[in-house]
Amino acid sequence: MLRVGMLTSGGDCQALNAAMRGVVKGLYAKSDEIEIYGFRDGYKGLMYSNFDMLTSKDFSGILTRGGTILGTSRQPFKLMREPDKDGNDKVAMMKHTYHKLNLDCIIILGGNGTHKTANLLREEGLDVITLPKTIDNDLWGTDMTFGFQSAVDIATDTIDRIHTTATSHSRVFIIEVMGHKVGYVTLHAGIAGGADIILLPEIPYDIDVITDVINKRAAAGKPFTILAVAEGAISKEDAELPKKEYKKKVAERPYPSIAYELEKQIQERTNKEVRITVPGHTQRGGTPCAYDRVFATRVGAKAADMVHKGEFGYMVAMKNGEITKVPLSEVAGKLKYVDPDAGIIKEAKLTGISFGDE
Ligand code: F6P
Repeated sequence: MLRVGMLTSGGDCQALNAAMRGVVKGLYAKSDEIEIYGFRDGYKGLMYSNFDMLTSKDFSGILTRGGTILGTSRQPFKLMREPDKDGNDKVAMMKHTYHKLNLDCIIILGGNGTHKTANLLREEGLDVITLPKTIDNDLWGTDMTFGFQSAVDIATDTIDRIHTTATSHSRVFIIEVMGHKVGYVTLHAGIAGGADIILLPEIPYDIDVITDVINKRAAAGKPFTILAVAEGAISKEDAELPKKEYKKKVAERPYPSIAYELEKQIQERTNKEVRITVPGHTQRGGTPCAYDRVFATRVGAKAADMVHKGEFGYMVAMKNGEITKVPLSEVAGKLKYVDPDAGIIKEAKLTGISFGDE
């Protein structure tokens, strides 16, 4: 009997269910002697031994379903070594559940924080395989994460819809896209949606450059402007601040987010009507796009194959279109940022898109 634990951790995204379905199909394809332990709400389920015994039937018909049938929660890595409210050691509790259930391995679907904890569990002797989930596409060691393409499609659809109303009213529109540290969703949705200005955390902006673009477009007979702005977009002055000071400034900012600060600045400087649209969590919701279904199924199948072969301590990844595995020790604690010198940025600039930097 093969006893496989499974959990989804951190912010949800599309194709989590598709990935788990891929794992389970792959496991059962080689053997019927499988027990699946589905832990509820991420690492919390592993800590408090809250799980459901699942069979292949439970994973049937979920390819197109968004969210996660296991539930999820955010359990910050920095608090993992701190006792819970009853004074219990969280890591010890997770190890205890794993050993008590006599698990052969645990499959963990998650993003950056999740991978740090997964690596910690590996260091503590558990057999772990992870799958790369996040709309942000910011996991180091893989070219792609599932959820990303679906989020890009949704953010692009938002920009498309804004385009028509922005044109009718000759307005400036700011569409704030998810991504506090990394701007992949904004970059791709911005290009796909035909944004005129794209602001990313990785490329600090100058407000004068932004207003210049808006004024020049107006002078050229294009009275509307679309800005795709990442949640973590940052001005050049703010990028100079020490991290702590910047965090304090953001916490004390009299605006709910960067989009509102930009709205005020642009309105004051250009005399144009500015509106904001924040698609927010719609970017993580609903049905996964076809690309994510395929990708999630592939990584799921690879994970199952690794379980059968006893290959543990890895994240399943995509490199140059092929599904492969990367040691968890290499992945944990690193972020994959948008490279400001990447070809995609250069090509976007060649089409006249401004990144607010020059
Ligand atoms: O990490 C994924 C992500 O969707 C970010 O892009 C976003 O900033 C954040 O999660 C939102 O987190 P929460 O769902 O906890 O509000």
